[in-house]
Amino acid sequence: MGYFRDEIEAMAGYAPGEQPQDGEFIKLNTNENPYPASPAVAEAIEEALCRGLQKYPDAMGQPFRRRAAEVFGLEPDWILCGNGSDDILTIVTRALVGEGRLLRVPYPSYVLYQTLAEIQGARSEEVPFRADWSLSEAFAEATAGLRLVFLPNPNSPSGTVVAPEEVLALAERLPCPLLVDEAYVDFAETNCLGLVARSEKIMVARSLSKSYALAGLRFGFVVAQPQVIEQLAKVKDSYNCDALSIAGAAAAIGDRAWLAANRAKVIATRRRLTEGMRRLGFACVDSQANFTWNTHSEQPVRPLYEGLKRHRILVRYMGYPGWGDGLRISVGTDAQIDACLERLGAMV
Ligand SMILES: Cc1ncc(COP(=O)(O)O)c(C=O)c1O
Repeated sequence: MGYFRDEIEAMAGYAPGEQPQDGEFIKLNTNENPYPASPAVAEAIEEALCRGLQKYPDAMGQPFRRRAAEVFGLEPDWILCGNGSDDILTIVTRALVGEGRLLRVPYPSYVLYQTLAEIQGARSEEVPFRADWSLSEAFAEATAGLRLVFLPNPNSPSGTVVAPEEVLALAERLPCPLLVDEAYVDFAETNCLGLVARSEKIMVARSLSKSYALAGLRFGFVVAQPQVIEQLAKVKDSYNCDALSIAGAAAAIGDRAWLAANRAKVIATRRRLTEGMRRLGFACVDSQANFTWNTHSEQPVRPLYEGLKRHRILVRYMGYPGWGDGLRISVGTDAQIDACLERLGAMV
């Protein structure tokens, strides 16, 4: 067209996972939680609705910050709220990575990261994981122009984790900030939240979409030292979170018993999925997230994705140039996973 910035016209744009709205699918493609959120969420949203929506919300999402600060043993000024953690990733990229600068991400990982660099007119560097999904030396190199490094931890699509000590050592070697994207961390055995107090360079992003079963609400947050939060806040939309999502998210983060029970159910079904996929001959990586990554040495997997879809079961087919392809399957209910395994069993 010629009207838009060159980098916008040149880019393909991020393609989110399929989101059929008709409810007829067993949906195992975008790592949503199969169970409803804590009942406290609906109560808090109803209360907020009764108070009325004619006024702007608190610009910093103060009710959420206060509740989350209590839960994590922090001060509220260590937290910045976002309209989903994608909003946090956008804010951080906009604040740190200028035109022509460099963003580093591991490969394969969350595809949105590169899109964020493209929007900035920045470069992105994909550093391949080793075959065992550990980080290579190159990931810590101080390359010229490097302004930000993203580390999804647990990673998608593998569900694998880099240990906190290793993350701290990485941050110490890097010449720039490191954002640890912990969208899936509530299903993992470790997390990096405690590292934030030890290094100004470490930011930890969290999502309420997965472990709190609130993908439709759109709420995420980042934890960083207050002087970092102050800079990031300059870049966000003035009212990036609405009154209903702030109220719902504050209630969700406060219900620790719901989180623990949900986590236990998801982890039990993850084991069922992992064992089932291995029985069917897939290489299924041990996951610390609410999905598993499955490859097959003898059979192309794309037709399996298509065959499942014909039977109204949606999983995510992912092909990574230079790396290979596989099926990323979200942990649903036991019944959903059994249905998926049964269908796959009829095809492999
Ligand atoms: C690694 C990773 N980070 C962040 C997100 C974004 O989550 P949300 O914007 O729903 O909080 C996703 C969603 O799929 C993800 O896989």
